[in-house]
Amino acid sequence: MGSLPTCLALSYRRSFHQKLYKHLIKDGQRNTSHFSGVKQPFFITTPIFYVNADPHIGHIYTAVLADASARFHQMIGCDPVLFSTGTDEHGLKIQQASFLANKEPLAFCNKVSSSFREALSKCDISYTDYIRTTEKRHKENVQLFWETLSERGYIYKGKYEGWYCTADETFVAEDLTSLIKLPDGREQRVSTESSRPVEWFSEENYLFKLSTCREKLIEWLESGPVVRPPRYYSLLKSLLDQDLFDLSISRPNSRLSWGIPVPGDSSQTIYVWLDALLNYLTVAKHSQSQRNLWPPSVHVMGKDILKFHGIYWPAFLMAAGLELPKSLLVHGHWLVDEQKMSKTTGNVVSPHTCIDIATVNGLRYFLLHEGVPANDGNFSMKMMVRIANTDLADGIGNLVNRCCGKSLNPSLKRLAVSASSFEACGPAGSELLQLLERTPDAVHDEYLNWNFYKGIDHIMAVVRGANGLFQTMEPWKLKKEGQVDKFNATMAATMETARVVGTLLQPIVPSYSQRLLDKLGVPPTERTWDFASVRWSPNDHLLGDQGPVLFPRIKYE
Ligand code: MSP
Repeated sequence: MGSLPTCLALSYRRSFHQKLYKHLIKDGQRNTSHFSGVKQPFFITTPIFYVNADPHIGHIYTAVLADASARFHQMIGCDPVLFSTGTDEHGLKIQQASFLANKEPLAFCNKVSSSFREALSKCDISYTDYIRTTEKRHKENVQLFWETLSERGYIYKGKYEGWYCTADETFVAEDLTSLIKLPDGREQRVSTESSRPVEWFSEENYLFKLSTCREKLIEWLESGPVVRPPRYYSLLKSLLDQDLFDLSISRPNSRLSWGIPVPGDSSQTIYVWLDALLNYLTVAKHSQSQRNLWPPSVHVMGKDILKFHGIYWPAFLMAAGLELPKSLLVHGHWLVDEQKMSKTTGNVVSPHTCIDIATVNGLRYFLLHEGVPANDGNFSMKMMVRIANTDLADGIGNLVNRCCGKSLNPSLKRLAVSASSFEACGPAGSELLQLLERTPDAVHDEYLNWNFYKGIDHIMAVVRGANGLFQTMEPWKLKKEGQVDKFNATMAATMETARVVGTLLQPIVPSYSQRLLDKLGVPPTERTWDFASVRWSPNDHLLGDQGPVLFPRIKYE
C-alpha cells in the first residue's frame, strides 16, 4: 500500500470496506419469514472470556445458558445456527497477568485460551466458532472498523484524564469511586461498583463521539424487548437518562503495547473493549453461511458487562452504519457466601471439580435449574449433588430403568402406544396424558423466554406423574396376574412419557438426553421439537443398546 498514490490508496480502501461490509448492511434476507419456506437463521454469542485466569463456574454459566438456547433454536428448526464464543486476549489486564506469570503474552494467551476451549467442550458447549482476538482475521476487522469510524467522523484526538480500573478495563467517573483503607493502613481509591482499584491517567489519545449517540441509543432500547429481563432494561435506561461523555478508545503504546495498533498511528493501541466487542462482527463476516447473519439475534452476558454491550457496542455499530443487535440477555452472578465468584475474591469454583463430582450433566442441570437470569444465585456443591441425584438419578433414571429394564421388559421393546394406552390406566393415566399434551408448548415458551428453570419444572412434573402412574398401576403385579392389556398399556404410556421427557431435556442435558433417547431406540432424525409431543405409534420399536446406567447416584459428603 505504501507505494500507491494517496487517492488510489483511498479508493482501494473504500472498495475493501464495501466488499467487507456490503452484505452485512444491505442483504434483505434478514426479513424473510418462515412462511416463505426459508428457515430463520439464529446467531447467538457468549462474551469472550478474559484469559487472565482459568475458567470458573460463572463463565461456564454464561456459556451453558447460551448453549441451551442455541440447541433449542436448532431443535425448533432455525438454520443456520451460528453460536460463537472465544477469548479476549488483549489489554492491560492480560499484559500484566502475562508479566506476572513471567511469560510472553501470546504464549500466556495460548495456554489459557486452550484451557477455556477445553472446559467449554467438556461442558458440551456446542459453539460453531471459537474466536480469539489475537487472530489475524480479527485484527484486520478491528482496524477496518476503526477506519470506518474515522472516515465517518466519529473519532478525534484529544486529551483524556480520569480514573481507570484495569481489572474491569474501564474508565470510572470520579463520583463512582471511593477511598478504602488497606490492611496496612494505606488508602486506596477503588471503583465503587466492583471494589477494584483505580489509577489516575492523563494522556493524549483518540476519543469516540459517544455523546452524540444518546438519542439513537434510547430509540433502539425502546424499540422492543431489546434488553431482557426487564430489570436490566430499567438499569440501562437509567444509565441513558444521564449525559454520555465521549469515550477514550486508545492508549499510548508506551503504556499498553499488548493490543491492536491504531491504523496510521502505531504510537497508540486500540482500547480493549472496542477490540473485544468487534469479535461478534469478525465471526459474522467469517461465517461459512451464504446467508446474512447480521445483526446477532442475541448477545448473552452477565450484568457486570451490560454497559459495554448496551451502550458502547450499539453506539459503535450505529456510528459505522451497521444494524444493532436484536437483543441482549443479561444474567445475574453466581455467589459463594454472598460474594461474586471471581479470581480477585479468590472464591472460584472450577468446572472440572464440579464435573468430577457431579458429571457434566449434573453441573448443567444444576446451573439451569437454579439459575434465574434476573437474580444472583448461590453456588453450593451439596445442592448440586442433591438436585442431580433427585431428578436425574432417581426421578428420570428410575422411570427409564423400570420401563426399559429386563425384568419387566424382557423383549427390550418400546411398545406401540395410543391414547387408549393412557386411558386404560384409569384417571391417573388420563391426567398424565393431559399433562403431557400441555407440557411441550409450556416448555417451548419458557425456553424461548430464557426461563430454563421453569421449563425444567414443567418436565419434572411430567416425570413425577409417570412415576406416580407406575406406582399406582403396579405393572409387576399386572404381569404376574396375566393382565396383559393393562400391563402393556402402563409400559407403553410410561415409555412414551420418557421419550417426550428425553426430547424436551436435550437443550439442558444433551448427553444425558442422548443416552436416554438411544436407550429408548429413538432414531436421531426423530429428536427435533416436532417430536417433543405425544405421538401415537401402531408399532413396537426395539430398544437401543442398554449401555450404562443413565446417571449413577452420586455419593458426596
Ligand atoms: N472479556 C470480557 C467480555 C468481552 S465480550 C466482548 C469479560 N470477560 S470475563 O471473563 O470477565 O467474563 C465473561 C462472562 O462471565 C461475563 O458474562 C461475566 O458476566 C461472566 N461471569 C464472570 N463471573 C461471573 C459470576 N461470578 N457469575 C456469573 N457470571 C459471571 O467480561
